[in-house]
Amino acid sequence: MTDPGRTDQERFIFGLPKAELHLHIEGTLEPEMMFALAARNGVPLPYPDVEAVRAAYVFGDLQSFLDVYYAGCAVLVTEQDFYELTTAYLARAADQGVTHAEIFFDPQTHTDRGIPFRTVVNGICRALEDGERRLGVTWRLILCFLRDLGAEAAMATLERALPFRHLIAAVGLDSAELGHPPRAFEEVFRRARAEGLSCVAHAGEEGPPEYIWEALDLLHVHRIDHGVRCWEDQQLVDRLRDDHVPLTVCPFSNVKLGVFPDLAHHNLANLLRLGLRVTVNSDDPAYFGGYVGDNLVAAAEALALERDEIVQMARNSFVASFLDEADRHRRLAQLDRFARDG
Ligand code: HPA
Ligand code: ZN
Repeated sequence: MTDPGRTDQERFIFGLPKAELHLHIEGTLEPEMMFALAARNGVPLPYPDVEAVRAAYVFGDLQSFLDVYYAGCAVLVTEQDFYELTTAYLARAADQGVTHAEIFFDPQTHTDRGIPFRTVVNGICRALEDGERRLGVTWRLILCFLRDLGAEAAMATLERALPFRHLIAAVGLDSAELGHPPRAFEEVFRRARAEGLSCVAHAGEEGPPEYIWEALDLLHVHRIDHGVRCWEDQQLVDRLRDDHVPLTVCPFSNVKLGVFPDLAHHNLANLLRLGLRVTVNSDDPAYFGGYVGDNLVAAAEALALERDEIVQMARNSFVASFLDEADRHRRLAQLDRFARDG
Protein backbone atom coordinates (compact mmCIF):
# COMPACT_ATOMS: atom_id res chain seq x y z
CA MET A 1 0.00 0.00 0.00
CA THR A 2 1.40 3.44 -0.82
CA ASP A 3 1.30 6.16 1.78
CA PRO A 4 1.14 9.61 0.15
CA GLY A 5 2.61 11.18 3.32
CA ARG A 6 5.93 9.31 3.04
CA THR A 7 8.74 9.53 0.49
CA ASP A 8 10.14 6.36 -1.16
CA GLN A 9 13.13 6.47 1.19
CA GLU A 10 10.84 6.82 4.23
CA ARG A 11 8.64 3.97 3.03
CA PHE A 12 11.72 1.76 2.61
CA ILE A 13 13.20 2.65 5.99
CA PHE A 14 9.92 2.41 7.91
CA GLY A 15 9.06 -0.90 6.21
CA LEU A 16 12.46 -2.46 6.84
CA PRO A 17 12.09 -4.99 9.68
CA LYS A 18 14.24 -3.90 12.61
CA ALA A 19 14.90 -4.43 16.29
CA GLU A 20 15.04 -1.53 18.72
CA LEU A 21 17.68 -2.15 21.39
CA HIS A 22 18.01 1.20 23.18
CA LEU A 23 14.69 2.54 24.35
CA HIS A 24 13.78 3.84 27.80
CA ILE A 25 10.08 3.13 28.21
CA GLU A 26 9.73 6.17 30.50
CA GLY A 27 11.19 8.22 27.64
CA THR A 28 8.20 7.41 25.42
CA LEU A 29 5.86 9.52 27.58
CA GLU A 30 4.40 11.97 25.05
CA PRO A 31 3.18 15.32 26.46
CA GLU A 32 -0.46 14.47 25.64
CA MET A 33 -0.28 11.31 27.74
CA MET A 34 1.64 13.18 30.47
CA PHE A 35 -1.31 15.59 30.79
CA ALA A 36 -3.94 12.82 30.66
CA LEU A 37 -2.20 10.79 33.39
CA ALA A 38 -1.53 13.88 35.53
CA ALA A 39 -5.26 14.68 35.47
CA ARG A 40 -6.27 11.07 36.18
CA ASN A 41 -3.83 10.72 39.09
CA GLY A 42 -4.16 14.24 40.49
CA VAL A 43 -0.46 14.98 39.95
CA PRO A 44 0.39 18.69 39.44
CA LEU A 45 2.53 19.57 36.41
CA PRO A 46 4.75 22.66 36.16
CA TYR A 47 3.44 23.37 32.62
CA PRO A 48 0.14 25.04 31.59
CA ASP A 49 -0.35 22.93 28.44
CA VAL A 50 1.16 20.46 25.96
CA GLU A 51 2.79 23.20 23.89
CA ALA A 52 4.61 24.52 26.97
CA VAL A 53 5.91 21.01 27.68
CA ARG A 54 7.30 20.67 24.15
CA ALA A 55 8.81 24.16 24.36
CA ALA A 56 10.63 23.11 27.55
CA TYR A 57 12.38 20.25 25.74
CA VAL A 58 15.57 22.17 25.02
CA PHE A 59 18.52 20.47 26.68
CA GLY A 60 22.14 21.53 26.98
CA ASP A 61 23.45 18.24 28.28
CA LEU A 62 22.41 14.87 29.73
CA GLN A 63 21.69 16.18 33.24
CA SER A 64 19.38 18.96 32.03
CA PHE A 65 17.40 16.30 30.13
CA LEU A 66 17.34 13.89 33.07
CA ASP A 67 15.86 16.58 35.37
CA VAL A 68 12.88 16.97 32.99
CA TYR A 69 12.60 13.22 32.33
CA TYR A 70 12.48 12.25 36.02
CA ALA A 71 9.94 15.02 36.74
CA GLY A 72 7.69 13.64 33.97
CA CYS A 73 7.80 10.16 35.54
CA ALA A 74 5.77 11.47 38.51
CA VAL A 75 2.54 11.01 36.52
CA LEU A 76 3.13 7.23 36.26
CA VAL A 77 1.37 5.75 39.27
CA THR A 78 -0.82 2.72 38.54
CA GLU A 79 -0.23 -0.55 36.69
CA GLN A 80 -2.68 0.73 34.07
CA ASP A 81 -0.47 3.82 33.51
CA PHE A 82 2.56 1.63 32.73
CA TYR A 83 0.34 -0.56 30.54
CA GLU A 84 -0.90 2.41 28.48
CA LEU A 85 2.59 3.94 28.20
CA THR A 86 4.02 0.69 26.83
CA THR A 87 1.05 0.03 24.53
CA ALA A 88 1.38 3.48 22.95
CA TYR A 89 5.11 2.94 22.35
CA LEU A 90 4.52 -0.44 20.69
CA ALA A 91 1.95 1.01 18.27
CA ARG A 92 4.37 3.75 17.20
CA ALA A 93 7.33 1.40 16.96
CA ALA A 94 5.41 -1.20 14.93
CA ASP A 95 4.34 1.55 12.51
CA GLN A 96 8.05 2.26 11.92
CA GLY A 97 9.02 -1.35 11.26
CA VAL A 98 10.06 -2.54 14.73
CA THR A 99 9.37 -6.27 14.98
CA HIS A 100 11.44 -6.85 18.14
CA ALA A 101 11.95 -4.43 21.04
CA GLU A 102 14.42 -4.70 23.94
CA ILE A 103 13.12 -2.18 26.41
CA PHE A 104 14.82 -0.49 29.36
CA PHE A 105 12.92 0.42 32.47
CA ASP A 106 14.16 2.39 35.51
CA PRO A 107 12.57 0.76 38.57
CA GLN A 108 14.35 3.02 41.09
CA THR A 109 12.64 6.09 39.58
CA HIS A 110 9.36 4.56 40.68
CA THR A 111 10.14 2.52 43.81
CA ASP A 112 11.85 5.58 45.35
CA ARG A 113 8.46 7.38 45.10
CA GLY A 114 6.63 4.49 46.75
CA ILE A 115 5.36 2.74 43.59
CA PRO A 116 5.75 -1.03 44.10
CA PHE A 117 8.17 -2.86 41.78
CA ARG A 118 5.39 -5.28 40.78
CA THR A 119 3.13 -2.41 39.64
CA VAL A 120 5.81 -1.24 37.20
CA VAL A 121 6.87 -4.62 35.86
CA ASN A 122 3.37 -6.08 35.62
CA GLY A 123 2.01 -3.06 33.72
CA ILE A 124 4.90 -3.06 31.24
CA CYS A 125 4.90 -6.83 30.73
CA ARG A 126 1.13 -7.13 30.31
CA ALA A 127 1.37 -4.54 27.51
CA LEU A 128 4.36 -6.32 25.95
CA GLU A 129 2.47 -9.65 25.96
CA ASP A 130 -0.65 -8.06 24.45
CA GLY A 131 1.53 -6.22 21.91
CA GLU A 132 3.19 -9.43 20.85
CA ARG A 133 -0.22 -11.04 20.30
CA ARG A 134 -1.75 -8.06 18.47
CA LEU A 135 1.21 -6.61 16.57
CA GLY A 136 3.68 -9.50 16.43
CA VAL A 137 6.38 -7.40 18.17
CA THR A 138 8.54 -9.73 20.28
CA TRP A 139 10.35 -8.30 23.29
CA ARG A 140 12.91 -8.52 26.05
CA LEU A 141 12.95 -6.42 29.21
CA ILE A 142 16.16 -4.81 30.54
CA LEU A 143 16.33 -3.49 34.10
CA CYS A 144 18.50 -0.37 34.29
CA PHE A 145 20.27 0.74 37.45
CA LEU A 146 20.48 4.49 38.02
CA ARG A 147 24.26 4.91 38.28
CA ASP A 148 24.05 8.23 40.19
CA LEU A 149 22.25 6.45 43.07
CA GLY A 150 25.27 4.19 43.62
CA ALA A 151 26.14 0.51 43.73
CA GLU A 152 24.46 -0.29 47.04
CA ALA A 153 21.07 0.92 45.79
CA ALA A 154 21.65 -1.00 42.56
CA MET A 155 22.31 -4.21 44.48
CA ALA A 156 19.12 -3.70 46.52
CA THR A 157 17.21 -3.16 43.27
CA LEU A 158 18.63 -6.38 41.82
CA GLU A 159 17.48 -8.28 44.94
CA ARG A 160 14.04 -6.73 44.62
CA ALA A 161 13.86 -7.83 40.97
CA LEU A 162 14.68 -11.49 41.59
CA PRO A 163 11.04 -12.61 42.14
CA PHE A 164 10.46 -11.27 38.58
CA ARG A 165 13.63 -12.84 37.18
CA HIS A 166 11.62 -14.85 34.58
CA LEU A 167 10.45 -11.57 32.97
CA ILE A 168 13.86 -9.88 32.77
CA ALA A 169 16.51 -10.67 30.16
CA ALA A 170 19.31 -8.33 31.15
CA VAL A 171 20.51 -5.51 33.37
CA GLY A 172 21.80 -2.13 32.17
CA LEU A 173 23.29 1.05 33.57
CA ASP A 174 21.86 4.49 32.80
CA SER A 175 21.35 8.04 34.16
CA ALA A 176 24.08 10.65 34.77
CA GLU A 177 27.27 9.22 33.30
CA LEU A 178 30.00 11.70 34.25
CA GLY A 179 31.49 10.95 37.67
CA HIS A 180 29.74 7.55 37.82
CA PRO A 181 32.10 5.09 36.12
CA PRO A 182 31.07 1.50 35.36
CA ARG A 183 33.81 0.13 37.67
CA ALA A 184 31.66 1.04 40.69
CA PHE A 185 29.12 -1.58 39.59
CA GLU A 186 31.43 -4.55 39.05
CA GLU A 187 30.02 -6.52 41.99
CA VAL A 188 26.37 -5.80 41.06
CA PHE A 189 26.93 -6.96 37.49
CA ARG A 190 28.81 -10.06 38.72
CA ARG A 191 25.78 -10.93 40.83
CA ALA A 192 23.42 -10.30 37.86
CA ARG A 193 25.50 -12.62 35.66
CA ALA A 194 25.39 -15.28 38.38
CA GLU A 195 21.58 -15.06 38.13
CA GLY A 196 21.86 -15.74 34.39
CA LEU A 197 21.11 -12.18 33.33
CA SER A 198 22.85 -10.64 30.32
CA CYS A 199 24.50 -7.23 30.69
CA VAL A 200 24.57 -3.94 28.78
CA ALA A 201 25.66 -0.45 29.91
CA HIS A 202 25.47 3.16 28.79
CA ALA A 203 29.06 4.29 28.26
CA GLY A 204 30.83 6.82 26.08
CA GLU A 205 27.81 9.07 25.57
CA GLU A 206 29.10 11.93 27.73
CA GLY A 207 31.66 9.83 29.57
CA PRO A 208 35.23 9.18 28.31
CA PRO A 209 36.47 6.11 26.36
CA GLU A 210 37.76 4.76 29.69
CA TYR A 211 34.15 4.07 30.72
CA ILE A 212 33.68 1.90 27.61
CA TRP A 213 36.80 -0.11 28.49
CA GLU A 214 35.44 -0.61 32.01
CA ALA A 215 32.01 -1.70 30.73
CA LEU A 216 33.72 -4.29 28.50
CA ASP A 217 36.40 -5.58 30.87
CA LEU A 218 34.75 -5.22 34.30
CA LEU A 219 31.01 -5.49 33.61
CA HIS A 220 31.36 -7.96 30.69
CA VAL A 221 28.60 -6.31 28.68
CA HIS A 222 27.10 -7.83 25.53
CA ARG A 223 26.75 -4.39 23.92
CA ILE A 224 27.55 -0.75 24.64
CA ASP A 225 24.70 1.78 24.77
CA HIS A 226 25.81 4.88 22.83
CA GLY A 227 29.60 4.34 22.80
CA VAL A 228 30.14 7.16 20.31
CA ARG A 229 33.12 8.59 22.25
CA CYS A 230 35.09 5.42 21.41
CA TRP A 231 36.15 7.55 18.44
CA GLU A 232 38.73 9.29 20.65
CA ASP A 233 40.67 6.06 21.27
CA GLN A 234 41.98 4.13 18.26
CA GLN A 235 42.82 1.04 20.34
CA LEU A 236 39.26 0.97 21.62
CA VAL A 237 37.81 1.28 18.11
CA ASP A 238 39.98 -1.70 17.10
CA ARG A 239 38.80 -3.69 20.11
CA LEU A 240 35.11 -2.97 19.40
CA ARG A 241 35.55 -3.94 15.76
CA ASP A 242 37.60 -7.10 16.40
CA ASP A 243 35.22 -8.35 19.11
CA HIS A 244 32.08 -7.37 17.14
CA VAL A 245 30.75 -5.42 20.11
CA PRO A 246 27.40 -3.83 19.17
CA LEU A 247 26.90 -0.09 19.73
CA THR A 248 23.31 1.08 20.24
CA VAL A 249 23.63 4.56 18.74
CA CYS A 250 20.86 7.16 19.20
CA PRO A 251 21.36 10.02 16.71
CA PHE A 252 18.54 12.38 17.79
CA SER A 253 19.50 11.93 21.45
CA ASN A 254 23.16 12.74 20.78
CA VAL A 255 22.26 15.97 18.98
CA LYS A 256 19.62 17.05 21.54
CA LEU A 257 22.10 16.50 24.38
CA GLY A 258 24.94 18.32 22.63
CA VAL A 259 27.23 15.33 21.99
CA PHE A 260 27.34 16.41 18.30
CA PRO A 261 26.36 19.87 16.98
CA ASP A 262 24.04 18.38 14.33
CA LEU A 263 23.33 15.12 12.50
CA ALA A 264 25.70 15.96 9.65
CA HIS A 265 28.56 15.88 12.19
CA HIS A 266 27.50 12.59 13.84
CA ASN A 267 30.14 9.84 13.65
CA LEU A 268 27.60 7.06 12.96
CA ALA A 269 28.61 6.66 9.30
CA ASN A 270 32.33 6.67 10.15
CA LEU A 271 31.87 4.00 12.81
CA LEU A 272 29.80 1.89 10.43
CA ARG A 273 32.35 2.24 7.61
CA LEU A 274 35.12 1.18 9.99
CA GLY A 275 33.25 -2.10 10.44
CA LEU A 276 31.75 -1.53 13.89
CA ARG A 277 28.44 -3.24 14.69
CA VAL A 278 26.35 -0.05 14.75
CA THR A 279 22.59 -0.03 15.35
CA VAL A 280 20.23 2.97 15.31
CA ASN A 281 17.78 3.54 18.16
CA SER A 282 15.54 6.25 19.61
CA ASP A 283 16.56 6.37 23.34
CA ASP A 284 13.78 8.69 24.64
CA PRO A 285 11.67 9.40 21.54
CA ALA A 286 9.04 11.60 23.23
CA TYR A 287 11.81 13.96 24.35
CA PHE A 288 14.26 13.83 21.44
CA GLY A 289 11.96 14.33 18.47
CA GLY A 290 11.24 10.95 16.96
CA TYR A 291 11.05 7.17 16.96
CA VAL A 292 13.53 4.73 15.47
CA GLY A 293 12.37 5.06 11.85
CA ASP A 294 12.52 8.85 12.18
CA ASN A 295 16.10 8.59 13.48
CA LEU A 296 17.12 6.36 10.57
CA VAL A 297 15.46 8.56 7.94
CA ALA A 298 17.12 11.72 9.27
CA ALA A 299 20.54 10.10 9.76
CA ALA A 300 20.42 8.56 6.27
CA GLU A 301 19.71 11.94 4.75
CA ALA A 302 22.21 13.98 6.82
CA LEU A 303 25.02 11.46 6.34
CA ALA A 304 24.15 10.33 2.79
CA LEU A 305 23.94 6.69 3.85
CA GLU A 306 23.72 4.13 1.07
CA ARG A 307 20.77 1.76 1.03
CA ASP A 308 23.01 -1.23 1.81
CA GLU A 309 24.37 0.66 4.85
CA ILE A 310 20.82 1.19 6.11
CA VAL A 311 20.08 -2.52 5.61
CA GLN A 312 23.36 -3.39 7.37
CA MET A 313 22.29 -1.46 10.49
CA ALA A 314 18.90 -3.22 10.51
CA ARG A 315 20.74 -6.57 10.19
CA ASN A 316 23.02 -5.52 13.05
CA SER A 317 19.98 -4.85 15.23
CA PHE A 318 18.90 -8.50 15.03
CA VAL A 319 22.46 -9.82 15.29
CA ALA A 320 23.02 -7.72 18.44
CA SER A 321 19.69 -8.70 20.03
CA PHE A 322 19.00 -11.28 22.73
CA LEU A 323 16.86 -13.35 20.33
CA ASP A 324 17.72 -17.05 20.22
CA GLU A 325 19.60 -18.28 17.16
CA ALA A 326 16.65 -19.84 15.29
CA ASP A 327 14.55 -16.71 15.74
CA ARG A 328 17.46 -14.46 14.76
CA HIS A 329 17.93 -16.34 11.48
CA ARG A 330 14.21 -16.19 10.74
CA ARG A 331 14.26 -12.38 11.25
CA LEU A 332 17.35 -11.94 9.09
CA ALA A 333 15.76 -13.96 6.28
CA GLN A 334 12.63 -11.79 6.57
CA LEU A 335 14.76 -8.64 6.42
CA ASP A 336 16.70 -9.89 3.38
CA ARG A 337 13.42 -10.61 1.57
CA PHE A 338 12.20 -7.08 2.29
CA ALA A 339 15.52 -5.51 1.22
CA ARG A 340 15.41 -7.48 -2.04
CA ASP A 341 11.73 -7.02 -2.92
CA GLY A 342 11.04 -3.66 -1.20
N1 HPA B 1 21.19 8.54 28.96
C1 HPA B 1 21.36 8.12 30.21
N2 HPA B 1 20.36 7.78 30.99
C2 HPA B 1 19.11 7.87 30.51
C3 HPA B 1 18.87 8.31 29.24
C4 HPA B 1 19.97 8.66 28.41
O1 HPA B 1 19.83 9.08 27.24
N3 HPA B 1 17.53 8.28 29.07
C5 HPA B 1 16.98 7.83 30.20
N4 HPA B 1 17.94 7.58 31.09
ZN1 ZN C 1 19.70 5.70 26.87
